Amino acid sequence: MDKYVIRGGKPLYGEVEISGAKNAAVAIIPASLMVDGVCRIENIPDISDTDKLLTILTHLGAKVRTINKNTVEIDCTAARRTGAPFDLMRKIRASYYLIGSMLGRFGSAKTTMPGGCNFGVRPIDQHIKGMTALGAEVNVSGGFIYADARGGRLKGAKIYLDKVSVGATINVMLAATLAEGQSIIENAAREPHIVDLANFLNSMGADIRGAGTDTIKVNGVDRLHGGSYSLIPDQIEAGTYMAAVAATGGSILVKNVIPKHLDCISAKLREMGVTVEEGDDAVLVSRTGKLKRTNIKTLPYPGFPTDMQPQISTVLCLAEGTSVVTEGVWDNRYKYVNELRKMGAQIHVDGKTAIIEGVGALTGAPVAACDLRAGAAMVIAGLCAEGVTEVEDVHYIERGYQDIVGKLRALGADIVYICEKDETPRTGAAAI
Ligand code: EPZ
Repeated sequence: MDKYVIRGGKPLYGEVEISGAKNAAVAIIPASLMVDGVCRIENIPDISDTDKLLTILTHLGAKVRTINKNTVEIDCTAARRTGAPFDLMRKIRASYYLIGSMLGRFGSAKTTMPGGCNFGVRPIDQHIKGMTALGAEVNVSGGFIYADARGGRLKGAKIYLDKVSVGATINVMLAATLAEGQSIIENAAREPHIVDLANFLNSMGADIRGAGTDTIKVNGVDRLHGGSYSLIPDQIEAGTYMAAVAATGGSILVKNVIPKHLDCISAKLREMGVTVEEGDDAVLVSRTGKLKRTNIKTLPYPGFPTDMQPQISTVLCLAEGTSVVTEGVWDNRYKYVNELRKMGAQIHVDGKTAIIEGVGALTGAPVAACDLRAGAAMVIAGLCAEGVTEVEDVHYIERGYQDIVGKLRALGADIVYICEKDETPRTGAAAI
């Protein structure tokens, strides 16, 4: 398998440009299926999840024109409900957004049960509740999800989500966009990527209000027209680089961010003794002194993001004293702890809580990425460890981080990408 080889102990200095938000891109690309015309989408991150979704749309008859590595034009005018590549759909979680967009566009949908990172049970009951409330008949069988508006058009409804769910909020918003009448989504998730999707849909002629609050109103429209849209920067990619310099020491300028989206991450890093200075669209993150312990509980936005939990826990391994991290969103998001223990981390996990005893330093070792953000945590551990760390299964990391090797090398990290089949070290685009 491909791997990263990291020689740790080097502080990071320089500038890093944050790419477009993965979790906005994986919602907006399926949403383009509902547009009767050409969507030009800019600032799409160049990652494997977006590649897969664009390929899926192509199989559904969409015309995808690549303008550059971060810009595409998608024309779904001739798209059809048949032809979905189910094997490809099983590989990514976001393929289930096609339920909402295909129901909205065609009145029926067949998708696979979603894939994605495996950290405990990832039910879809709230998605089904929402689609059913809009008048669809939804069945799950044989690993597939079937949804049908029973020959008619979905009808607007009031939907209360029993759990704050990013995916269910997005899927119901998609299905409601072309439904007849008004839908109200209550107890909606408020993540920045939900606002980005609503803004994309509204720029194509939808009528969605309240995204970013816990109540979203969708007035159904008859069609969506083409247009252009640029994605927001990735809050979690930015947070990952902020955590990296907190772990290694040094000073980096994280550019192309929306500082407001990073409020909780910045606040926690400041508690840990890290300096975070905010500009209009950048943050300067520096750490020269000792790291301090703190306690963190992950929560839906605007709380501390669960997708930053593995990364910040890795930094806390180096803090003086004992820190407590509580995972408030997922049932089991600590699989990476066993990998960190191979590097000398002192972490005790009890259910959703991790007790982290600070150690003087981590020691390089062969480790593996268990999922996307766990993989990012392994990279951070390797960057600050003494000696050499090899991170296996980096395909997880490549799902969500554009050119992470190149970006880190440009910050002074000693990291190379070893492609197993030809063993040639690669240094990424940004470094060239
Ligand atoms: C999205 O997953 C993200 N993925 C995840 O990021 C992120 O961890 C998560 O939101 C929370 O922010 C994408 O956007 C592609 P949820 P999603 O529905 O939508 C429960 C990453 O690293 N739930 O908000 O699947 C669920 O079990 C990935 O980029 C139900 O009970 O998450 C969980 O406990 C990993 N029933 C909680 O809600 C449902 O029908 C939040 O899940 C749906 C969810």
